[in-house]
Amino acid sequence: MADRLGIGIIGTGTIAQQHLIGLRDSAVGHAVAVFDVLPDRAQATAREFGIPYVAASIPDLLGRKEVDAVIVCTPPFAHRDPTI
Ligand SMILES: NC(=O)c1ccc[n+]([C@@H]2O[C@H](COP(=O)([O-])OP(=O)(O)OC[C@H]3O[C@@H](n4cnc5c(N)ncnc54)[C@H](O)[C@@H]3O)[C@@H](O)[C@H]2O)c1
Repeated sequence: MADRLGIGIIGTGTIAQQHLIGLRDSAVGHAVAVFDVLPDRAQATAREFGIPYVAASIPDLLGRKEVDAVIVCTPPFAHRDPTI
């Protein structure tokens, strides 16, 4: 599955976990990086799902060459910045 998209996850709360479960067996994409304003939560998610990179910021995540697309999993008040 070498051609799968590299997915970055922004926000690692409840709905992110569901997306990550879905990506586990996906032929389309796999999670390659995560970011959360709560670093411990991002680290725990990366450990649980075997995600290789925990970003220090959104620009850090977006700058990774292996990130082809992102899933924005932040609360509504924090949708704007990651989306733009
Ligand atoms: N929980 C559900 O069943 C569900 C279902 C459908 C849609 N959604 C939508 O998904 C979105 C997230 O909901 P949730 O339930 O996962 O919330 P949540 O509170 O469980 O998780 C949100 C995560 O985003 C992080 N976060 C907050 N601001 C951030 C920022 N600026 N940058 C990066 N990370 C940030 C928080 O630290 C938290 O870990 C909402 O828009 C919600 O409406 C949720």
